[in-house]
Amino acid sequence: MTVTIVGSQLGDEGKGGIVDLYGDAVDIVVRYQGGDNAGHTVVEGDEEYKLSLVPSGAIRGKVGLLGNGCVVNPRTLFDEIDGLRDRGLDPDVRVAQRAHAILPYHRVLDGIEEEAKSDSDLEAGTTGRGIGPTYEDKVGRRGIRIGDLLDPDVLRERLEYVVPYNRAIVEDIYGMEAGEEFDVDALFEEFSEYGRRLRENDMAVNAGEFIQSRLDDDENVMFEGAQGTSIDIDHGIYPYVTSSNPTAGGACTGTGIGPTTIGQGEIIGIVKAYLSRVGTGPLPTELKGDEESEDLAHYIREEGGEYGTVTGRPRRVGWLDMPMLRHATRASGFTGLAVNHLDVLAGLDEVNVGHSYTLDGEEVFTMPPTTERWGDCEPNLRTFDGWPEVDWEATAAEGYEAIPENAREYLDYISEELDTPIYAVGVGPNRSETIVLERPFDR
Ligand code: GDP
Ligand code: IMO
Ligand code: MG
Repeated sequence: MTVTIVGSQLGDEGKGGIVDLYGDAVDIVVRYQGGDNAGHTVVEGDEEYKLSLVPSGAIRGKVGLLGNGCVVNPRTLFDEIDGLRDRGLDPDVRVAQRAHAILPYHRVLDGIEEEAKSDSDLEAGTTGRGIGPTYEDKVGRRGIRIGDLLDPDVLRERLEYVVPYNRAIVEDIYGMEAGEEFDVDALFEEFSEYGRRLRENDMAVNAGEFIQSRLDDDENVMFEGAQGTSIDIDHGIYPYVTSSNPTAGGACTGTGIGPTTIGQGEIIGIVKAYLSRVGTGPLPTELKGDEESEDLAHYIREEGGEYGTVTGRPRRVGWLDMPMLRHATRASGFTGLAVNHLDVLAGLDEVNVGHSYTLDGEEVFTMPPTTERWGDCEPNLRTFDGWPEVDWEATAAEGYEAIPENAREYLDYISEELDTPIYAVGVGPNRSETIVLERPFDR
């Protein structure tokens, strides 16, 4: 069967930890979109791993696959694999031949475009990894796919078209000088070498067939979403979004496995117990504007370590936004929820949630479709009594009933509002600090 893990908010909900949590029952873990803009953390005992491309099952020695919906920077992929090897792991990572490659010029274009937008407030605050420009080349039918790296003739032919195209954007549109990242010969040399390494290690596969053959053998497959619903290119707060579909539909198009198969499995929405945001754009429940809110934001940021995994930027912080979660639950059809970071809110007198919004004098319960209208929304807060700091590891060992009562009320509210059961509760970053209510592969 399949289990799909989807970020329900703005990324960094703790997806990597939940993939790892349920990873014992899994045979392969498949990323279906995004690239090295992701930063997924797994903490096992004293060891912390931050993964941007290698699927999070690697910590448990599971086969990882980067599906066709991903954009793959072979440089960072091989660096990450080598880094994990140095730490004593032996990651077995396969890459879809249909996945697109991120080339050095994509990062340059990402930086130039963000800079150009910065005067008009349109910059997304990207991770600078070249994600958007790579997906643009993909949709523009001029991208370079992983399969192309395996065939030097095809690679050269593709480079000879796409590099001058992108060079012209830099030189003719932005009036800047294109550097060595736009040198066809150098790119050919570097990327045909990656092709050789992919072939020698048998890493480049037909993703759909690879996954289906395992499902046919009754193996368990986990689809690991990156980013989150509100930064989905279609369902997110456009244009402050990433360039792919983190929502569950992306698991179909990004792997070659049909919605009937994925829909027969479980789809777990990963929820952070509050909001964090690394990029720009509106955020109705953001904690800012007055001293008390800024102090609370500071407290949560420090308690939760809310600094970007990829970029180190301090994250913006806000109360849980229920309209955002209702939107995410519908868009992906969650069958279960994992609510993380409950421990971070411990010690506050009161915990608020944005239950609904007021927009033009009316109460609304889901996100409006334009980001400008979302920015006009005033949150209607509901207040919960706070819960104390406790020994969370001991709580996790005892189980759900050991969670402080007020925190359980908070969890019950989320579950009831979204009409979706809670499968797991994160009370700390460690694998041992998670309370498991349901094991989706056993259901
Ligand atoms: P992802 O991108 O969704 O995989 O999440 P990130 O790894 O970017 O960010 C989540 C951060 O919170 C990581 O540092 C995790 O180790 C940490 N984390 C995950 N779950 C919990 C939790 O329940 N409590 C606390 N305090 N930290 C958590
Ligand atoms: P994980 O998988 C949080 C944000 C960036 C920016 C926007 C576009 O760790 O949850 P991009 O580089 O993708 O073109 O940036 O999306 N963003 C993320 N925010 N977590 C992520 O990944 C993110 N990946 C991209 O900050 O606002
Ligand atoms: Mg992250």
